Amino acid sequence: MTKKAGQIVLLGGRGMLGTDLDRALQQAGFGVEVFDLPDFDITDAGQLRAAVGRSDVIINCAAYTNVDGAEADAESAYDVNAAAVGRLGDLAKANDSYVVHISTDFVFDGRKSGPYVEQDAPNPLGAYGRTKYQGEQLLAAGGCRHCIIRVQWTYGAAGANFVSKMIELSKTRNQLKVIDDQIGSPTATTEVVGVICELLSRDNPPEGLYHFAAAGQVSRYDQARFIFDKLGVDIDIKPCKTSDYASAAARPLNSRFNCEKIQRLLSAPIRDWQGPLEEFLECL
Ligand SMILES: NC(=O)c1ccc[n+]([C@@H]2O[C@H](COP(=O)([O-])OP(=O)(O)OC[C@H]3O[C@@H](n4cnc5c(N)ncnc54)[C@H](OP(=O)(O)O)[C@@H]3O)[C@@H](O)[C@H]2O)c1
Repeated sequence: MTKKAGQIVLLGGRGMLGTDLDRALQQAGFGVEVFDLPDFDITDAGQLRAAVGRSDVIINCAAYTNVDGAEADAESAYDVNAAAVGRLGDLAKANDSYVVHISTDFVFDGRKSGPYVEQDAPNPLGAYGRTKYQGEQLLAAGGCRHCIIRVQWTYGAAGANFVSKMIELSKTRNQLKVIDDQIGSPTATTEVVGVICELLSRDNPPEGLYHFAAAGQVSRYDQARFIFDKLGVDIDIKPCKTSDYASAAARPLNSRFNCEKIQRLLSAPIRDWQGPLEEFLECL
């Protein structure tokens, strides 16, 4: 890239991350064209070609994100998370477009004791992570200019997530069991979009693979305690283990990212997870 991005095509722009990204990009002065279900299906090659057109910059937030559903419907997950991303890469290569693609901590098995760096070998535990990793590989193999940003434990106003789930459950229960053996960094979509906007504003937006998450780490149990504490909700929370819950897909116990690579590109230090979460709760 030798010039600032002008018109941006945003795929999956009505999802949790895409909605906040659309707003932030427009506020930053970018022109944004949003495509999403039901009127746009990324798995339809003709629709994808028409959407992408000859745009300079494409951001892909579209994904099959139902982690448990993907186990029973791996084919659909593959179509959206992998095959369509490969086609997107081919179109971008042909048009010399730059692609920002969002991926996930679920490419890892979570067995590493420390935070994951970009060079760590993926080993997905289930179909969602496997198809997301295949998407990364197909995009890279196509040879277009691209940046893959893996995010984890995201929450935002425009979608269901751990934070909204905890709040919903607390409305009907006075006792909750929450897993204390999954560790990660709760990351506000607003922080992710801040990073994407900053990267796109550079004269030369970066290429390659990057990890981004809020700083610090916490278990789901301690995150839930933080949420209810800040909201003043009186609820009895008990810790439990991932193995206590039957779910179709296995989840990584360690989702922590080492974000030093992306930090070097950013003007400000990545914020600890607590601040953005507190701000999010204050806006509810
Ligand atoms: N949420 C997390 O904790 C998390 C963690 C790590 C990584 N990520 C990644 O972050 C990115 C954004 O996800 P999100 O959290 O914003 O989830 P999301 O709210 O589910 O957003 C995904 C969007 O893609 C759309 N979509 C699904 N199938 C499509 C298709 N065939 N054609 C076009 N659009 C389609 C969805 O539409 P419908 O809603 O109508 O299905 C939705 O608007 C994804 O790449 C995801 O893998 C998320």
